[in-house]
Amino acid sequence: MRSPYLWELEAKNANKAGKPATASSSIDNSCYNGSMPFDLKPLRIGPLEIEFPVVLAALASYSDLPYRLICRSLGAPYCATEAMLDRQILLDGKLRDRLVRIDAADHPIAGQLMGNDPTVMAQAAAVLRDMGFDVIDLNFACPVKKVVAKKRGGYLMDQPDLALEIVRAVIEAVPDRPVTLKLRRTFRETDETNAAFRRIARGAFEAGAAAVAVHARSVGQKYRGQADWDFIARVKREFPDRTIIGSGDIHTALDALRMIEQTGVDGVLAARGAIGNPWLFRQARDLAAGREPFKPDLKEQREVISRHLRLAEGLYGPRRGLLTLRNFGIHYARLHPHPAKVRTAFISVKTDEDWRAVMETWYGAPPLSPL
Ligand SMILES: Cc1cc2nc3c(=O)[nH]c(=O)nc-3n(C[C@H](O)[C@H](O)[C@H](O)COP(=O)(O)O)c2cc1C
Repeated sequence: MRSPYLWELEAKNANKAGKPATASSSIDNSCYNGSMPFDLKPLRIGPLEIEFPVVLAALASYSDLPYRLICRSLGAPYCATEAMLDRQILLDGKLRDRLVRIDAADHPIAGQLMGNDPTVMAQAAAVLRDMGFDVIDLNFACPVKKVVAKKRGGYLMDQPDLALEIVRAVIEAVPDRPVTLKLRRTFRETDETNAAFRRIARGAFEAGAAAVAVHARSVGQKYRGQADWDFIARVKREFPDRTIIGSGDIHTALDALRMIEQTGVDGVLAARGAIGNPWLFRQARDLAAGREPFKPDLKEQREVISRHLRLAEGLYGPRRGLLTLRNFGIHYARLHPHPAKVRTAFISVKTDEDWRAVMETWYGAPPLSPL
């Protein structure tokens, strides 16, 4: 059903910029018309009912426990870990412990696995299940050269038989958990048939997969160029009774609702648009309810960034926690009225004092009182 609300938003954006709102740092409030709520259905993943369909994507170096908790506090109902190597999960080590850390407030949560050996993937899935992950997500999408060269991630888009062997082995190993897949549209940009996608998606659903997420770019495209939302719409038409989750070019909350409206998908992954803008989830809920989207002022930004730092220091320790937040700061800066200057300021942070100076100078944090 076409929502007049979104239609109007789109028309206003198209008039303003010559195209729909994309790539802006926050939601474009000027396109808000404040009238019609948008009727969104919960996202079903097997037995799980996720009450709001805009969720946090798996993001290497970003969708860690501290940031997931921040996003959840601002409305993200479901999150995924970054892709974790199956073999790493089977090793008892510090890196694994950091990657797999979840918290009582961090449910429902998908643990994402990457690998190419059905037996090892199945063993790793069982370990994640025993650790408390609610969903096992299989990554057949990662385009990073080193990963593809090692026949993992996006490489599996070129190997549908092996991909399906992995799916079946994992489903058999964790019959008590929903298993989902993250796929790319195709392996090679030149392949217009998307035959491998179809085979993997159909075979996975037949084997009992609970959902397929489609990043509508080819593996070869990596993160460049436009995601093909028409392809996502075709996938949903081909699997009308299955859970299909869309990914690609979700820069704002409005983009998330537009994708649902234009493609009919059951859910949307907020990825780059949510890095440094955890308010995207609250804004999506506002838009869906017909409310004016929340616009975080500097005080709100400061409070969330500071809470994020405390969570990161709690998990990683003071030094690594600060470096993690410096990395996020570069993205948080997008929402600041002086993004370029704030970005530069975050980049040069090396010590706690540097951090405090950035917060005082740019976010109006009160100076530390002398002892
Ligand atoms: C920095 C970064 C890290 C990512 N890490 C993962 C990952 O670990 N697993 C995964 O399935 N996708 C990963 N992705 C892909 C995103 O989840 C998403 O599908 C992709 O960025 C397309 O959405 P977008 O155009 O809205 O950013 C990553 C993307 C980025 C930019």
